[in-house]
Amino acid sequence: MTLKSALDRARPIAEQPLNHTGVDRKSVGKLVREFYAKVRSDERLGPIFAREITGDWEPHFEKMTEFWCSVILKSGDYHGRPVPAHLKLKDVTEADFDIWLALFRQTAAELFVPETAAVFVDRAERIATSLKLAMFFRLAPAMTVGGE
Ligand code: HEM
Repeated sequence: MTLKSALDRARPIAEQPLNHTGVDRKSVGKLVREFYAKVRSDERLGPIFAREITGDWEPHFEKMTEFWCSVILKSGDYHGRPVPAHLKLKDVTEADFDIWLALFRQTAAELFVPETAAVFVDRAERIATSLKLAMFFRLAPAMTVGGE
């Protein structure tokens, strides 16, 4: 057993790369494109994205494909910073994340077998939780290190 396979085995199921399930850059690219087609026609999320992405959507699709390949296949292709990209979106609410996740769940279920879709959804939910923490919650002063 290689060190890599030993580490992969030690990870919880949802953390393991889906390298042997037919998920590849092509199918991830399809997921991304179909997901954002739903997002763009959603009455609440559509206008939020339309304000931010005013030109060609292709660079966003490519970036998001790299992001999901890094998350799911551990490809290491994505080098962006999701938190600042979302902190600047002032009109987004916690409820918008529920819409985002529902559309993502629906798209994953349309394209992948249930076990694979569940891994995508699990990761999306966890990342959504960290983005929400960064966007909507501030530590009370007494809880920060040094407590100003
Ligand atoms: C209501 C929820 C959300 C909204 C409205 C939203 C909106 C956006 C917008 C407008 C951008 C910038 C697009 C661009 O200029 O390229 C962006 C980037 C991005 N979003 Fe979201 N997003 C949401 C939730 C999520 C979630 C749950 C994830 C991950 C599971 C995610 C992952 C990303 C990533 C990786 C980027 C690229 C950041 C970068 O490297 O620049 N987003 N999002």
